Amino acid sequence: MSHSPFAPGRFLFGGDYNPEQWPREVWLEDIELMKRAKVNTVTIGVFSWAMLEPREGEFDAGWLDDIIALLTDAGVGFFLATPTASPPPWFTIAHPDALPLRADGTPVLHGSRDTYAISAPAYRGAARRVARFLGERYGAHPGLRGWHIHNEYGTIDHGPHAARAFRAWLSEKYGTLENLNDAWYTAFWSQRYDNWEEVLPPQQTQYLHNPAQVVDFKRFCSDEMLAAYGEQVEEIRATGSAAPVTTNFMLPTWNHLEQWAWSDAQDFVSVDHYLDTAGPDGEAHVAYGSDLTRSWAGGPWVLMEQNATGIRVGDRTIVKEPDRMIRNSVGYIARGSQSSLFFQWRAGAAGSEMWHGAMVPHVGGDSRSYEAIVRLGEMLERIEEVAEPPADGRVLEAEIGIVWHAEGWWSLETPHLPNEALDYADEVRATHRSFWRAGLPVDFVRPGGDAQRYRLLVVPALYAMNSDTVAWIEEYVAAGGHVIVSFFSGVVDSSQRVVPGGYPGMLRELLGIRVEEIRPLVEGERLALADGLVGELWSERVHLEGAEATTTYTSGSLAGAPAITRRAHGAGSAVYVSTRLTPESRDALLADVASDLGLRPTVEGAIALGVEAIRRRGAASDYLFLLHHGSAPVRVEGGGVDLVTGAEDAFTLEPGGVAVIREAAAAWSITAATGV
Ligand code: GAL
Repeated sequence: MSHSPFAPGRFLFGGDYNPEQWPREVWLEDIELMKRAKVNTVTIGVFSWAMLEPREGEFDAGWLDDIIALLTDAGVGFFLATPTASPPPWFTIAHPDALPLRADGTPVLHGSRDTYAISAPAYRGAARRVARFLGERYGAHPGLRGWHIHNEYGTIDHGPHAARAFRAWLSEKYGTLENLNDAWYTAFWSQRYDNWEEVLPPQQTQYLHNPAQVVDFKRFCSDEMLAAYGEQVEEIRATGSAAPVTTNFMLPTWNHLEQWAWSDAQDFVSVDHYLDTAGPDGEAHVAYGSDLTRSWAGGPWVLMEQNATGIRVGDRTIVKEPDRMIRNSVGYIARGSQSSLFFQWRAGAAGSEMWHGAMVPHVGGDSRSYEAIVRLGEMLERIEEVAEPPADGRVLEAEIGIVWHAEGWWSLETPHLPNEALDYADEVRATHRSFWRAGLPVDFVRPGGDAQRYRLLVVPALYAMNSDTVAWIEEYVAAGGHVIVSFFSGVVDSSQRVVPGGYPGMLRELLGIRVEEIRPLVEGERLALADGLVGELWSERVHLEGAEATTTYTSGSLAGAPAITRRAHGAGSAVYVSTRLTPESRDALLADVASDLGLRPTVEGAIALGVEAIRRRGAASDYLFLLHHGSAPVRVEGGGVDLVTGAEDAFTLEPGGVAVIREAAAAWSITAATGV
């Protein structure tokens, strides 16, 4: 179990702190501002390698001792990062072979960050050395809350060290070159390997890459980075430090890690979460990031970074208003975070992230954004009893599971698929968003995970599957579960090889269908279905082989053909959706299925008024979180006390506001406040 060991009795509050960028007078001001805001945790050392080890093998940690002493005197605990995401310039010069090569063979030099080849022995050795140094010096420090290994693993190297390690990984996986040739289908385009030395990471090449090679390389990179992470943990543990260990994942765009395996290897799971939309979809995205991370963790987790003041949308940073910053922060907590931590404490005076948001902006403490941080600190104290999780760690009860797997993402990134506008993360997120808009709590589930606790399992666009995953879904349905599988799932096996005889070969039996043709739609094209739903992007010619059509296509070459099908299996059922439904249609279908199964929103009617309602389970009570994203006041009535304001049983919640109610009863009504 890798859920957060933090922090019975209070939430972690603070952020990344880079004192090495500032003169010592500023440190003193920082400490005062931290105290005023009730900050209790900072992350230090993330990119401090050059300060810590100015020359190879020579350490200088005096400055770190000093800042740790100041923080500790002020009662501020710290996560100590190993600085290995950013090797110093001396590393490039001393170990030119240990720089990452891009797919086109270009070396990536220092001058930014993340300039290391993960498989290079010189890098691995240097990373072990600095981790050991930090472990020995600070591993037993009373202010140390935990180890933050590296930062956002995900730098990909295509060079000779990667090639060597990739071959070793492949030889372990396939045993013989013959098996590899078979799995990679190298009879195509004369790719057959005659000697292991010929096998390379996917390099710059003339035309399309081999899909099986691409996905194996993703798997290898995830495993290789996990091994590097494990070595640092080993060094730290060898010093006797018992503090919990994590590394920060990155959402929403990072797809380099197989997060389920990585989560198992951490003492607690932490994530950096950056919104990519400013509107209501951003609010849904807070829920998405939180639900995903809580599911990886199997319980409480740590939000390691968010932006305090900005939302990066395309090429500009939109202001995250103070109320929204607070509402989003409480939103993460509602869904299991044990923290509200930010990147970063103080906005940089210069450097390439100087315009990134911070808890203390360039103008300093006399600012509405810092004042909002102070308000958040006070609020976190008022709701601190929520931080004590229930004994089983299940902070949120969901009856819906969405299957998530990094391999699904990787396989949909292979070249030349029938419609390359189909994006795995978009599909999963759209599915989650529909449930969010219905006010229904969801978890994400790993293939092979504990599905039986869910009434409904949704499998969005899981193009590649292995036979274990298929058997797992079949068992779930046989035991009375209900599954919805979307188009282009189960089409290929884990070697990206199509299962012949009709799509989706892996799932035909379960779904009771045979897809004869995949028919992508052109941009902007829509297909109406007989029940009023509308499809886009994708369609398929489906034949029934045991399933019934619940609706059909109404026009064109598919007129009259099944669009959505259902096959009953005893008390269970398997639904197949052969087109990508528009957002409104997806909302309608998923809400209908959930309602047929008797699944009810956390608070009926709340979302229509702009209020997101989430029930977080605690050790002594359940807590109803209300996040008001809408524009008009609402009347809240039920049984319990709002820990934020002290209001009991009935109160008005203003737009932008939040309530965290210790529940005496689980029945609540939320209505428009007009006329009350
Ligand atoms: C994170 C990263 C931080 C900082 C931040 C900016 O992903 O960990 O170091 O770069 O992004 O948003």
